Amino acid sequence: MERTVYINGEYVSESEAKISVFDRGFLFADAVYEVTAVLEGLLIDNHGHLERLERSCRELGIKLPVTSEELTEIQKTLIEKNSLIEGGVYLQLTRGCEGDRDFSYSDDIEPTLVLFTQERALINSSYAQKGIKILSMDDLRWKRRDIKTTSLLPACLAKQLAKQSGCDDVWLIENGLITEGGSSNAYIVTADDKVVTRPLSNDILHGITRASLLQLAKDFDIEIEEREFTIEEAYEAKEAFVSSATTFIWPVVSIDGKTIGSGKPGSLATKLRDIYIKMAIDTAR
Ligand code: PDD
Repeated sequence: MERTVYINGEYVSESEAKISVFDRGFLFADAVYEVTAVLEGLLIDNHGHLERLERSCRELGIKLPVTSEELTEIQKTLIEKNSLIEGGVYLQLTRGCEGDRDFSYSDDIEPTLVLFTQERALINSSYAQKGIKILSMDDLRWKRRDIKTTSLLPACLAKQLAKQSGCDDVWLIENGLITEGGSSNAYIVTADDKVVTRPLSNDILHGITRASLLQLAKDFDIEIEEREFTIEEAYEAKEAFVSSATTFIWPVVSIDGKTIGSGKPGSLATKLRDIYIKMAIDTAR
């Protein structure tokens, strides 16, 4: 069955939604995006996602043609039209289209806004139950990873290589230090139960799930250390895990073929996942 998608002010069937071949999102990945999780038909942590969208737009000088309130209405309408209970709403905003391929653009270019829903099992995910296997790789991305752009080729190639190597995802490394996952933030747990994650900077995406988790950890007296860590420290960690809007928290059970902890999802990661999901639904209601 066809989904209803949103494109520039209209709700249409997915096969009827058309974008120009001259759109800068298509030609130059001149575009930003957001993914908001949906549980029980409710938007999870959406305020943070829309705030980050505004920031990405400001950083790149892309015009946001609608307010946050209007965007939320569009997201809710799509959830309703597609009877979405669990999954996500994808939102992409490109700088727009000017009728030819040209690196530069004019000030009055009109942006392209697209949203669609995706059904996905978030709660009963086998990855959450079994944990994921990670392959580490060089971080080949640009230097403004704090901006959520659709320039995702390095992530696609890295994730594909991980898959071909029998792994589930990648952790990216720069100067011997983990930056983040292919599409998630990365964490380890030390022998004395401290959760370690890289501090915010232009080197990583400022994860919305990460921000919520850090707040939750405080509320539950779980100690957090925001500092850089090496791949060697990760190999020796008691636990490891990732966070994002498409995973919430997934435990990591091996990195580069080395077993993490007992080789089973760690207790702290499992606890954080459970309290995050409960808090997220309560807050969204
Ligand atoms: N990715 N780091 C990177 C590089 C990401 O692409 C993502 C999210 C995150 C986690 O951010 P958040 O908690 O706000 O989802 C960190 C989304 C889910 C994606 O590309 O599909």
